[in-house]
Amino acid sequence: MVYLNGNFIAKKQASISVMDRGFLFGDGVYEVIPTYQGKLFRLDAHLKRLQNSLDAIKISNPYSNSEWQKILNQLLGYSQSENQSLYLQITRGADTQRKHSFDTLIPTVYIESNPLITKTKHTLEKGVSVITQADIRWSRCDIKATSLLANVLYAQNAKENQVEEIILHRDNIVTEGATSNVFMIKAGILFTHPASKNILSGVTRDLVLESALACKLSANESAFTVDALLNADEVWISSSTREIMPVTQIDDQAVNHGKVGNYWECVYHHYQQLKND
Ligand code: PDD
Repeated sequence: MVYLNGNFIAKKQASISVMDRGFLFGDGVYEVIPTYQGKLFRLDAHLKRLQNSLDAIKISNPYSNSEWQKILNQLLGYSQSENQSLYLQITRGADTQRKHSFDTLIPTVYIESNPLITKTKHTLEKGVSVITQADIRWSRCDIKATSLLANVLYAQNAKENQVEEIILHRDNIVTEGATSNVFMIKAGILFTHPASKNILSGVTRDLVLESALACKLSANESAFTVDALLNADEVWISSSTREIMPVTQIDDQAVNHGKVGNYWECVYHHYQQLKND
């Protein structure tokens, strides 16, 4: 079952107009919200970011927060497995002709839910590999836009190179991952790129910062270079579907001699507790 413009229908039956600006221009925004034991995780933070994305591209939010909550829970009611990843997208809607500029249209709302399968602690303890690449994206990465061509190319490159993620850098500064935020630890201090128009400030990123405090790790939201990343004590990536993953290999270089660090253990543990709250 999926949700499309007010209706819960079978995915096969769901269709939209060829004039939808989401199809023609990638003119829309989205959110990915995890659920644990049937409960929406950090819904308010996701809805707040959704509102920011909508405001940035001048689409008015079709629903109130309580309406969103109701629709998402209704859709969850159709799923079998307990942990889900909800994907919701809002496009500007369908016009009568293709033109770049827009008038006020009826937004298209689509939501689907898929099982959320996270890696076990045992698997994560082996660490993941990443590669670095120049950040070729536009200057409004704070908008969670559906136009994701650069990210699609990065994901394909990750697949072809059999790595978990691509870590991006702009002017030698690490921005974020192609679909995640990036953290590094040096001498007991956690660094991550500050929230700005050059990154999508993740809901999980905030939870990592919260968990870091609980692990007596001081957090510094300031930018760092690729060289600093390569010489870090620990490197992590985070996202709603990945949670917090320890990176043990960057390009051809090992991080922390290829071993997962102790801070990751602590932060991972704290994050698992937050999921049960
Ligand atoms: N991606 N940065 C980028 C570019 C992302 O695409 C994502 C998430 C994040 C992490 O955000 P959060 O912690 O709120 O999930 C950072 C989602 C999962 C996706 O595109 O599917």
